[in-house]
Amino acid sequence: MKKRVAILISGHGSNMEAIIKNSRNGILKDHCEIVLVLSNRENAEGLQIASSYGIETICIISKGKKREDYDLELVSFLKQYELDYIILAGFMRILSSAFIKTFKNRIINIHPADTDKFKGLGAYEWAFNNRLDSTKITVHFVDNGVDTGKVIGKCNVDLKDAKTLSEVKNRGLKVEHKFYSEMLEKVFNEK
Ligand code: GAR
Repeated sequence: MKKRVAILISGHGSNMEAIIKNSRNGILKDHCEIVLVLSNRENAEGLQIASSYGIETICIISKGKKREDYDLELVSFLKQYELDYIILAGFMRILSSAFIKTFKNRIINIHPADTDKFKGLGAYEWAFNNRLDSTKITVHFVDNGVDTGKVIGKCNVDLKDAKTLSEVKNRGLKVEHKFYSEMLEKVFNEK
């Protein structure tokens, strides 16, 4: 049975699009169906992209709401979809325990650094400012901490001679787009 998946985004959604493509014609084809894309920001470009693939989209605005209230709103909305997994793809919010316990061990995130070296926001800026020769992408389960959950896999990003922050981001995203689906396939295969 294909896993029923919702993708949560806040912005561009390039990882989301890579996962959608892989669920249609790539390595996730036999493993999952993307049933919903949800954004917490109204102007997230990813919403239109998801719609263009015929996927249901919803924006539930988080601005001005208390973290716990917002998360409970999401939980009650998401219930109707009978989801197997929640995939975070540039969803720029920390989830509270109310949300996490509902989807225990079924929320997966991509973090653009080695979570042992750098947690939280601004990972590519950190790599660039420290002139790193390489960095890592981490795909992990989400627990109650920030980027502390069980690691599914890490992948190297070569940053040698990367001269600008946008070059660092571009090289990283290129790796993210392939690696995230590979790690999802691994998880979906095991369960
Ligand atoms: C990606 O680099 C992702 O790893 C990062 O945000 C970007 C989203 O890009 N996520 C985090 O930093 C989570 N803390 P996208 O919207 O184009 O996929």
